[in-house]
Amino acid sequence: MSDSLAGLLATALDTRADLITRLHGEQTDAYRLFHGSVEGMSGLTVDRYGDLLLVQSFHQSLAPDDLAALEAFYATTLPGLIPIYNDRSQPNSRICNPLTPEQKVAAHLPRQCSELGVNYRIQARHEGQDPWLFLDLRAGRRRVMAEAAGKSLLNLFAYTCGVGIAAAKAGARLVVNVDFAESSLRVGKESAHLNELSTRPRRVLSDVFPALRQYAGLGQAQMVRGKRLPPFPKLEPQQFDLVFLDPPRYAKSPFGVVDLVNDYSALFKPALLATAEGGTLICSNNVAEAEPDAWLDQLCRSAIKAGRPIHEAEWIAPEADFPSPDGKPPLKMVVLRV
Ligand SMILES: C[S@@+](CC[C@H](N)C(=O)[O-])C[C@H]1O[C@@H](n2cnc3c(N)ncnc32)[C@H](O)[C@@H]1O
Repeated sequence: MSDSLAGLLATALDTRADLITRLHGEQTDAYRLFHGSVEGMSGLTVDRYGDLLLVQSFHQSLAPDDLAALEAFYATTLPGLIPIYNDRSQPNSRICNPLTPEQKVAAHLPRQCSELGVNYRIQARHEGQDPWLFLDLRAGRRRVMAEAAGKSLLNLFAYTCGVGIAAAKAGARLVVNVDFAESSLRVGKESAHLNELSTRPRRVLSDVFPALRQYAGLGQAQMVRGKRLPPFPKLEPQQFDLVFLDPPRYAKSPFGVVDLVNDYSALFKPALLATAEGGTLICSNNVAEAEPDAWLDQLCRSAIKAGRPIHEAEWIAPEADFPSPDGKPPLKMVVLRV
């Protein structure tokens, strides 16, 4: 078993040789080294974030001899990386494996990694479960960096503000990150401080629904069906040159339901109205089963209904460290000129 895992890791590393050279040339030291779902071991991922080697297993724990073989493989091929294993095979993908005291210190040490010349804070273990930078979204951040100079950007479901920081590094004139998780926005603030930026990215601690409705000029009621809603920051209507909409698959809050399968329009419509005429709205959909054409068709119909037709649509795919042999990456991203 361990021999065969080492073989799979070697093939994955060989396949990435050119990509890794290119990424290093672009000041990127954060990338996926092994994407198990399509590289021979479903549920296992290995990511490099600067000097951290983050190993994660989903659905099933990694056997101790496999973990030892994996660590030995990378100690030889990419010496100097610090391996941390996060076993997320329990319900809700919660990290469940104990660490030795030494590993604990290494896992909680604040580190940094670089992507396209932008520095990001990273830490193997923290109060959440997911790494602070989603690597499959690099293609989206790359696109934002290519378009952001001199523009205003609204980053919705900002998490640790990766997209916003990338935009600020690329010369955006205004960056607004919206998320309701204070701890994630705090990481974004720290990451921003690791860079020289053209503008200080703003952080709006708010549920996306009321923030977006207000920016879009739709307003947010304070009561719904006789019930008072939780307080939310008051924001002036404002349109942005670039809007990045990267929601989770499903999330319920007092203000609405994020449900990418059944109701993408609930987010799409106000996001479109918060995008300036002639501006760009970048939407993602991480529902693996979603059919790209059907999804885009739905967006086009919503846009016409909202009186803001889509003039041009262009797909962006995750980069080659997230291979998808069937050409159907789980994460779909589309750039809409509106
Ligand atoms: C998958 S992450 C988004 C990733 C992010 N776009 C990035 O660039 O890394 C989902 C985020 O949505 C936030 N979230 C979920 N529902 C929300 C809501 N109703 N309002 C605000 N934030 C929400 C979570 O706090 C989390 O940070």
